[in-house]
Amino acid sequence: MREVAVIGIGMTKFGELWDKSFRDLVAEAGVKAIMDAGIEGKDIDAMYIGGMSSGGFVEQEHVAPLAIEVAGLEDFHIPATRVEGACASGGLAMRQGYIAVASGIHDIVLVGGAEKMTDVVGTEATNVLASAADREWEAFFGMTFPGLYALMARYHMHKYGTTQEQLASVAVKNHYNGSMNPNAQFNRKISIEDVLASPMVADPLYLLDCSPITDGAAAAILAPLDIAKKYTDKIVKILASTQASDTISLHNRKRFDALPAAIHAARQAYKMAGVEPKDIDVAEVHDCFTIAEIMAIEDLGFFEKGKGGKATEEGLTAIDGQIPINTSGGLKAKGHPVGATGVAQINEIVMQLRGEAGKRQVKDAEIGLTHNVGGSGGTAVVHILGVI
Ligand code: COA
Repeated sequence: MREVAVIGIGMTKFGELWDKSFRDLVAEAGVKAIMDAGIEGKDIDAMYIGGMSSGGFVEQEHVAPLAIEVAGLEDFHIPATRVEGACASGGLAMRQGYIAVASGIHDIVLVGGAEKMTDVVGTEATNVLASAADREWEAFFGMTFPGLYALMARYHMHKYGTTQEQLASVAVKNHYNGSMNPNAQFNRKISIEDVLASPMVADPLYLLDCSPITDGAAAAILAPLDIAKKYTDKIVKILASTQASDTISLHNRKRFDALPAAIHAARQAYKMAGVEPKDIDVAEVHDCFTIAEIMAIEDLGFFEKGKGGKATEEGLTAIDGQIPINTSGGLKAKGHPVGATGVAQINEIVMQLRGEAGKRQVKDAEIGLTHNVGGSGGTAVVHILGVI
């Protein structure tokens, strides 16, 4: 297997981008990544694009050749593939790109992710998102994603004493981090009181415990480490790329206080990278709801099971804390254009490892991790990146 590097990144601003179309977003992120890598379109050997439901959100499927066309790459006839794994689609696209380069099949690979979610009304967005749950046994009976994570939150609160304030402290931290990220959907800081005063969405999750509905795209350029230097000296190495699965339905899951797929993917990733949780300097985790971040930092081994809420409340996951989590603002404040999220997480970690994260820079960050989840935990993807 060849060693693989990320040599370029690019993303759009995330938010309600009513003046931009799906194709505008794809083009902008792709062009930014190509320019950042110092390559030309003709250098690209393959493309993988993550998208959850462009059909449901903008009535457009077959988005891989669409991406090729908007990038002006049609004359090269390179293979372009869309990858779908609900909210983990971007992470999966990244992993497919990694596998293609590591195996020696392709050299320069463009990985992307995009979603345009705000062109439908909120109830329709909720319905499209619910197709990533078990439609027959969950969604048809009225279950939504806030509802599924609310059940996990109640269980965690019951089993470990996790409090409403501890959940809220995840949102407060991530909004604070997002206030320093010009690409974030929300740049405003919030307080615990703001979270607890916001409308209840699915008990115990308030509106400010939820990630928003978002438009956005992100991209990254991958290359074999040995030829990466030909293009750029801003090289970040991929130390591990892992993926694990579980039941699509929550009711058939063996545990409700954790995402077993994430635990599994993380264990494999630490083994592949030859590192331990304590070696990670910064992590972007899948905080689609505040409880999801608390479970993630436990599943990834940063904190003991049941202690994630307390750790967050005590500031251990802040930018200057023991393990900075979601320096970008996370899905909560940066936004969650589902198919783009996994690649946007890679963008943030690469910026951190290059020392380009500005006001939210983690001091001396050398090893970073991304944790991207599909649905209520049916798919989990973990990447570990490091400076060379
Ligand atoms: N966080 C912070 N602010 C939010 C927000 C969020 N998650 N969602 C909406 N807002 C803000 C809007 O910006 C708007 O502010 P404004 O009045 O200043 O413009 C206001 O709240 C009302 O927005 P609206 O779009 O009417 O909210 P909504 O009630 O339709 O949707 C949620 C709120 C929480 C239901 C929606 O964001 C949601 O479904 N989130 C979860 C998405 C999801 O499940 N993703 C997949 C995860 S697996």
